[in-house]
Amino acid sequence: MKRYYISTFGCQMNVHDSEKMAGILKLEGYEKTDNVKDADFVIFNTCSIRQKAEQKFFSELGRIKKLKKRRPDLTIVVAGCIAQQEGNNIVERASHVDYVLGPQNINALRDIVNLTANHVFLDDNPYITEIELPADRNDNVRAWVNIMYGCDNFCSYCIVPYTRGREKSRASQNIINEIKVLADKGYKEVTLLGQNVNSYKSDMDFPGLLKEINEIKGIKRIRFVTSHPKDLSDELIFAIRDLDKVCEHIHLPLQSGSTKILTLMNRKYTYGDYLKKIEKLRKEIPDIAITSDIIAGFPQETVEDHKDTVRALKEIEFDGIFAFKFSPRPGTKASLMSGHLSDDIKSERLSEILELQNKITEKKNKELKDILQEVLIEGHNEKNPSKFTGRTRTNKVVNISATDDIKTGDIVNVKIICTRRHSLEGEIV
Ligand code: SAH
Ligand code: SF4
Ligand code: F3S
Repeated sequence: MKRYYISTFGCQMNVHDSEKMAGILKLEGYEKTDNVKDADFVIFNTCSIRQKAEQKFFSELGRIKKLKKRRPDLTIVVAGCIAQQEGNNIVERASHVDYVLGPQNINALRDIVNLTANHVFLDDNPYITEIELPADRNDNVRAWVNIMYGCDNFCSYCIVPYTRGREKSRASQNIINEIKVLADKGYKEVTLLGQNVNSYKSDMDFPGLLKEINEIKGIKRIRFVTSHPKDLSDELIFAIRDLDKVCEHIHLPLQSGSTKILTLMNRKYTYGDYLKKIEKLRKEIPDIAITSDIIAGFPQETVEDHKDTVRALKEIEFDGIFAFKFSPRPGTKASLMSGHLSDDIKSERLSEILELQNKITEKKNKELKDILQEVLIEGHNEKNPSKFTGRTRTNKVVNISATDDIKTGDIVNVKIICTRRHSLEGEIV
């Protein structure tokens, strides 16, 4: 039996693409291995969102060169966003790579396995929304479901519109059919995936799609990532409020608290616009958890602009954030702007942001002490198998002492007995 090994970098989109590639390989008779040395077929599913992610991949690619020398029959595929961005350069730079596969072309994997393919697949794929690939999923309770591909927003710092191509939405019926099959298999939660899910547009809009999915029997929870603040409509807010399965959590990247910087980023909203949406969300859905992304040290960011971001974090009090140092990406507008900041300044500003948010996250979690929460059990805690781990509807991780009467996939009511920065401790009630 031939074996495959997949190394995945980057976002949920890539994680799910890897599940689909695993599904194709399984159908072709391959078996999964977690040890690259045992593999006949290796895929690197890469990310180019920041330079660091890129460097991580290239060092892993360097390490596998020796293995390929010893075993020339080993097939090496580079997929994902670096594949799309670098194309033929990868093969020129690393001659041990056999195939380069852009994110819009993962269906070509079957031809690669059967040796009927050429070597580089980077074309725009207008049929991507119609191709149904059999995913070999990593989880039995929660599933990722693509609702759209690509991005048209061209935020000035971002590589994604260049690597994932133009925005394309799947037909609602295909999405609904996929989720019905998942429900029949026992899945309890779906996370709808897209770079900007609230600009979903096919035969219906995003709130309409949520309504349809809310009707699917067996599915208990619906989540979605990522939302763009400019497209967050009142209808979506009402859908989160009114649809019982749609969880009370939204990831809404702010990026900066300075309207000047937001304009340079081409985000198409002011800080004031953003704040109004937060107020509306909290008014309609008082328990909603709001998380965000922040970029520290964008070109031309002054001390004042940075202070605006710090002030915004204090004013909004997110439940959690992901924050990153600005990283210039080849071909993007921001990489060509004047006024780039030194790495030291970026690091300093990032640390300040993270330290402040840590305190806020801890404080927000403390507020949950003694409160009842509904938790979906996802499995045993990896580090401590005597505990179960799951999530609240607001996407907070809860650890619970395992008992015989609960199992993975159950939804239980727990009382929060202890809170930490990254997790909560709960007790079944
Ligand atoms: N489509 C999503 C996610 C995009 S990537 C969205 O629009 O929110 C996830 C996060 O990476 C972004 O929100 C942004 O904060 C960060 N990011 C993207 N490009 C970056 C860059 N060049 N430098 C630093 N952070 C970046
Ligand atoms: Fe990148 Fe902006 Fe598109 Fe998100 S919305 S993927 S940050 S261009
Ligand atoms: Fe990375 Fe591509 Fe996702 S650049 S974050 S893998 S869309």
